[in-house]
Amino acid sequence: MYFIANWKMFGVLNSLNSLHKVMNFFKSFKKKKSVKIIYCPPNTLIRPMTKRLLKSTIEVGAQNCHENDSYGAFTGSVNSSMLKSVGAKYVIIGHSENRQFGETNRMINLKIKSALKSNLKVIFCIGETLQEKRKKITKKVLSKQIKLGLNKIKDNRNILIAYEPVWSIGTGLIPKPKDLFDTVYFIKKRMKSNKVLYGGSVNPKNINQLKFITNIDGYLIGGASQDPKKFIDIIKKSYN
Ligand code: 13P
Repeated sequence: MYFIANWKMFGVLNSLNSLHKVMNFFKSFKKKKSVKIIYCPPNTLIRPMTKRLLKSTIEVGAQNCHENDSYGAFTGSVNSSMLKSVGAKYVIIGHSENRQFGETNRMINLKIKSALKSNLKVIFCIGETLQEKRKKITKKVLSKQIKLGLNKIKDNRNILIAYEPVWSIGTGLIPKPKDLFDTVYFIKKRMKSNKVLYGGSVNPKNINQLKFITNIDGYLIGGASQDPKKFIDIIKKSYN
């Protein structure tokens, strides 16, 4: 099971002081072998975070990368090889918070190709909006995001899919268990055997419900991942 923390635009150097709680917990966690914890902090914290986690099996990823894999005059941007060079092993691509501000499927496709070329593993986010859900076109939307996002990518072994319904992000809402099981099943069939994670308002309460959805391979956690107690609780409760 993957437990991926997406810190979004939160966190300064001092925020790393909370990591020892998660490291200590994880060191003695009985199910440790079947768990992978990945932190995706803002770019400013990737390097210091990898240093803090040196003695731990917890890994670090980034939250986005530029679509250009060479260097260039792109003020304010960072490409995949730059992320790799400071210790990132993963990168989140296609998050709805970026799609919403103009990131297209084509850009996402270029970003994924660039990340794979730099030997980063990709956490590829897909998900429908509330309007699309109401129109009952969720599967069509996901299918298109997958098709265009992974266009001409043959080897998808280093790609994890994160199904994040846009309407569940930061709202406290989660899909009905049957809907979620069906959607994950659909994605897995479409992808032929990728791991599929769920993201959207995962917290220490609703994990008791989510953990019974047997085809989910882990969670991409926003808000709750910034609080070590909540993050640890989510991991613990997934196993009891
Ligand atoms: P929340 O857990 O805060 O809803 O965020 C989910 C998310 O966007 C993770 O990428």
